[in-house]
Amino acid sequence: MIRPSSVLDRVLVLEMVRVTEAAAIAASTLVGRGDEKAADHAAVEAMRAALNELPMDGTVVIGEGERDEAPMLFIGEKVGSAQGSGPAIDIALDPLEGTTITAKAGPNALAVLAIAEQGCLLNAPDVYMDKLAVGPGYPDGVIDLAKTPTDNIRSIAAAKGVEPHEIIACVLDRPRHAPIIAELRALGCGIVLIPDGDVAGVIAVTDPDTTVDVYMGQGGAPEGVLAAAALRCVGGQIQGRLVFRNDDERARAARWGIEDLDRIYTLEEMAKGDCIFAATGVTDGSLLQGVKRHQDYHTTESIVMRASSGTVRRIYGEHRGG
Ligand code: FBP
Repeated sequence: MIRPSSVLDRVLVLEMVRVTEAAAIAASTLVGRGDEKAADHAAVEAMRAALNELPMDGTVVIGEGERDEAPMLFIGEKVGSAQGSGPAIDIALDPLEGTTITAKAGPNALAVLAIAEQGCLLNAPDVYMDKLAVGPGYPDGVIDLAKTPTDNIRSIAAAKGVEPHEIIACVLDRPRHAPIIAELRALGCGIVLIPDGDVAGVIAVTDPDTTVDVYMGQGGAPEGVLAAAALRCVGGQIQGRLVFRNDDERARAARWGIEDLDRIYTLEEMAKGDCIFAATGVTDGSLLQGVKRHQDYHTTESIVMRASSGTVRRIYGEHRGG
């Protein structure tokens, strides 16, 4: 039972959708235009403007990067129109999750946001994270990032009452995942290889329609925290381990006060307490339809969910005059 947060009650749940809608609509003008930076910039600007309309004392804890590398929505940036007086909210955001997808008009680009009470979202540096996630209904401990992919598949299959070859895994299509893919192939598992967008990839494990049982592999740590917030709302398990590949990244860990570089974070360590997760589709995908632009209006599909109530709302929007 997750206690409802009266602080979050003060930020209207549906207002979160306005923010992701704004970012998605802005990015949608650049779908398929081959310009990742422009698409990201449009989404960032729109999300920031929409966040600054909200009556809250917000702090970006997962954002576009550290202050010296991101001019807007950097980690630590204060957002909201009630600084010092409104509810103190921590925000994890990715105005455009899937910049390459958007530039190439591929599937599953999203505008994403999660909010929680101050201190409830892991402040992860912008490094890679090893991720392992399953949907709701499995016993605690069914996954363990310290074990091999083979051990995890066997454990998930046993819990599901099927053979390992019947398990379907979602993995980012990257050369670094060759060893994981080889293990999965040896077991005969189905593999859904995605080009980008592992927030949607992780959330796919919670949706029986996708048939994906498990998400495995290395992607961005900020995306890991966003995915954890989503699973906090709809159920499921996720584990994450930050990956520090070189001295520069290890120095980053030190700056963030991370001492145990091999620590495995559980869902509750990435997103605890009550939280709200919202996303709007930029391009069509497994989670949401993308923005459809028509001559004088455009449509959006969004999802907003809250951990304490377990409510999941899908919101179809028609936007005119913008
Ligand atoms: P961007 O929107 O920043 O391009 O991220 C897309 C993404 O696919 C994420 O979903 C994923 O976590 C990360 O990139 C993987 O990183 P890489 O492309 O370096 O393998």
